[in-house]
Amino acid sequence: MNKASEVRLINLGKKFGEVEAVKDVNLTIERGDFFTFLGPSGCGKTTLLRMIAGFTRPDQGTILFDGVEVNDIPPWKRDVGMVFQSYALWPHLSVFENVAFGLKERNLPKAVVQEKTLRALSMVNLEGLERRRPSELSGGQQQRVALARTLVIEPRLLLLDEPLSNLDAKLRIQMRQELVRIQRDLGITSIYVTHDQEEALTLSTRIAVMSKGHVVQVGSPKEIYENPKSQEVADFVGTSNFFSGSVVEELKDKLRVRTEEGVMLAVERQPELPLGIGSNLLLNIRPESFRISDADEVSSGENRVEGVVKTSAYLGSLVQYEVEVSGGKRVKVNLVNPRKKSLLREGERVSLTFSSEDVIAIPFGR
Ligand SMILES: Nc1ncnc2c1ncn2[C@@H]1O[C@H](COP(=O)(O)OP(=O)(O)OP(=O)(O)O)[C@@H](O)[C@H]1O
Ligand SMILES: [Mg+2]
Repeated sequence: MNKASEVRLINLGKKFGEVEAVKDVNLTIERGDFFTFLGPSGCGKTTLLRMIAGFTRPDQGTILFDGVEVNDIPPWKRDVGMVFQSYALWPHLSVFENVAFGLKERNLPKAVVQEKTLRALSMVNLEGLERRRPSELSGGQQQRVALARTLVIEPRLLLLDEPLSNLDAKLRIQMRQELVRIQRDLGITSIYVTHDQEEALTLSTRIAVMSKGHVVQVGSPKEIYENPKSQEVADFVGTSNFFSGSVVEELKDKLRVRTEEGVMLAVERQPELPLGIGSNLLLNIRPESFRISDADEVSSGENRVEGVVKTSAYLGSLVQYEVEVSGGKRVKVNLVNPRKKSLLREGERVSLTFSSEDVIAIPFGR
């Protein structure tokens, strides 16, 4: 099982009446990628995936598998496997028969069907459950059957549409790890659809962030999280604290920016930022970037903002605070490992300190 394809999408578009579900998508999904389409509900993820599978016909553009156009090839001849959110198992067939179905359809000898089916079941850790019916399995086990049934036919491309969304939180995390393991073992090019940013960040080699039918940014999880190119991406992936401001001073490797609230911030200079006094910037500080200290404590951070704790939520591994800073603006602050620190009370005055490297700058107008 080590066929893996490269997929190229060129100017791909699809309308449903007036609704432009997918607009001008250009992407290359490389061999062995675990590639994720990430975006809010209705942004066109499923439509894009179904066009790659062949279930939906594009109005515009080209789909290439290993350089060969597949636009006119029906789904069953594209050699792709798709796992749906609903699993779509056959209730009257056993686990073994569900998985073996695609092989039997191909008229393979019985011994080959037996061997391949058992191998696929072992890959998803379902040995011993061959005789059960889907109704006698947990959600996670049903999900594994759906995956084994898709993998057994050794497709050159694995398409997964929110396959973990019906599982509870713990199982979802366990299945994520399983999926990554199986995908890496097989080296199969996989395209995954989700609106869950954490899932996208943990699973993917690369992510395409989608909004209203468009791909708005493509990159590794680290690039997408640490260097979002627009407010939209920063806002959708992770939690953000935005400040808009303008450059008041240019230093050798830093810019000093005054925000609308009158807060002065030091920002790392980057080649892609507009330079010059008066240039407008949007700044983003992630909640985990702040250190929190008493207002009187001397701080070594380059940036320091004073504020008052307004709300706190204890989540065990971290505490989430909302701190009101000047101009009445509320900033989200996460304090990890709260066991080691004393908790802050609502109404308490604090200083937030953070490095200039933790300020993500987004040029305005993008
Ligand atoms: N068969 C259809 N007929 C008409 N409109 C459709 C059809 N399928 C999708 N749409 C519309 O196209 C847009 C994109 O839908 P799509 O299912 O691709 O979104 P999605 O990103 O998968 O959303 P979700 O996360 O909710 O599954 C939506 O506005 C949707 O209402
Ligand atoms: Mg969908």
